[in-house]
Amino acid sequence: MSSTPSRGMWSSRAGFILAAAGSAVGLGNIWGFPTQVGQGGGATFVVVYLACVFLICAPLMVGEIALGRRTRLSPVGAFAALAPGRRWWLVGALGVAAGVGILSFYSVIAGWAVAYIWFAATGAVSGGPDEIGRFFSEFTGNGVVSLALVVLVIGTTAAVLLGGVRTGIERVTKALMPFLILLLLALALRAVTLPGAGAGLAYYVSPDLSRLADVGVFTSALGQAFFSLSLGMGCILTYGSYLGREDSIAGSALWIVALDTSIALLAGFIIFPVGFSIAGFDPTASGPGLIFTVLPRLFAEMPGGHLFGGAFFLLLSVAAITSTISLLEVPVSHCVDALGWSRTKAVAAVAGAVFVLAVPSALGNGAVAVFTNVPGFGMGFLDLMVAAWNEFALPVGGCLTAIFVGRVWGVDRALEELRAEGAWFPAPAFWTLLIRWACPAAIALVLVAWLAATF
Ligand code: TRP
Repeated sequence: MSSTPSRGMWSSRAGFILAAAGSAVGLGNIWGFPTQVGQGGGATFVVVYLACVFLICAPLMVGEIALGRRTRLSPVGAFAALAPGRRWWLVGALGVAAGVGILSFYSVIAGWAVAYIWFAATGAVSGGPDEIGRFFSEFTGNGVVSLALVVLVIGTTAAVLLGGVRTGIERVTKALMPFLILLLLALALRAVTLPGAGAGLAYYVSPDLSRLADVGVFTSALGQAFFSLSLGMGCILTYGSYLGREDSIAGSALWIVALDTSIALLAGFIIFPVGFSIAGFDPTASGPGLIFTVLPRLFAEMPGGHLFGGAFFLLLSVAAITSTISLLEVPVSHCVDALGWSRTKAVAAVAGAVFVLAVPSALGNGAVAVFTNVPGFGMGFLDLMVAAWNEFALPVGGCLTAIFVGRVWGVDRALEELRAEGAWFPAPAFWTLLIRWACPAAIALVLVAWLAATF
């Protein structure tokens, strides 16, 4: 497996940062983060999440980018090239599987976001909290509509992937990211001035340290950090494989982490103040419907609410599509590189597999009872997929990647790549400590504690 000149490159370092930020910023920030904060008990979760982002995920992101740029290959090939004759390529294979698995539930939620553009803009979803909640359950309980939306999301993603990805993603992200941030800021300003918002702010920013005794907080915070940053499955590795050698990896990674984390934190400053302004709101009870049942209340309280609501779900849908593109890219580029398939055949086959796996997630929100409440698990199929991929597969992939970079490929060779062409790289000794010891040990500890608590 060798790289071909036709693989292509980002137009510039900014192009890479935009594309990787386009991958990172998505439903994970605006749908996933508040949902997890709600289930994980508020500010305590936020603190643990930030620790995971900066101490575990940021160093790992640097490692993933370096692996991609060094080998100029997709994940399976990259691991195989640096450890020939050994089984490390399996880490890349886990990533390929995770791409299909994550996309299967991601496209269901993305479909909801697309439908809510219409619902919010036309005022179809409105009224009191009960009506809004009922609207959501009836909508997601309709199996035919859910499946049609999944087809729309996967179809759009596949079409973009076939039509030359790179310049497209760069351009879309560059044009829309500033609008997304401005809109979130405006919504946050309105949210924190609602009557009753203070309780939501307190919940979000003052940690209750007794919650640290709960292992679940650590597993979900770690899983959420990987998911939000697109780490642990070779996605950022693949994007790094198109990065120019003169571009600083550490600087790029810092940008991506900062953008992704500030957008997630900002989403919390909208959801919780609005949520707590609604009488009887229980953040732990909402599950995947949290943003769809809480935000319409905000739009109802704002002048021009239809416009703000429609714009919000439109930007969220676009952010979701730049993420689904990056998820589909990993299995597709694997089929092209390793199996020698044409791009068209690879896109069709992978999209088909994603759709089949998406069916139970799409039908598991009221349409079909066994998927809505999977026997023996006490949760819906969609939640089960979130737990399996985010809390398990991504951290396992990330732990193995850290071990690979720190001990198999080796920190010296990694540092050589990181500092190529005199690139800026702060605190190499600290990074070495994190990637060799802290990352693998912390992830392993969380996983073992999770297994012990579950079984
Ligand atoms: N990070 C994206 C989000 O927050 C989702 C995503 C895109 C992803 N690519 C990924 C998650 C790779 C894990 C791995 O919405």
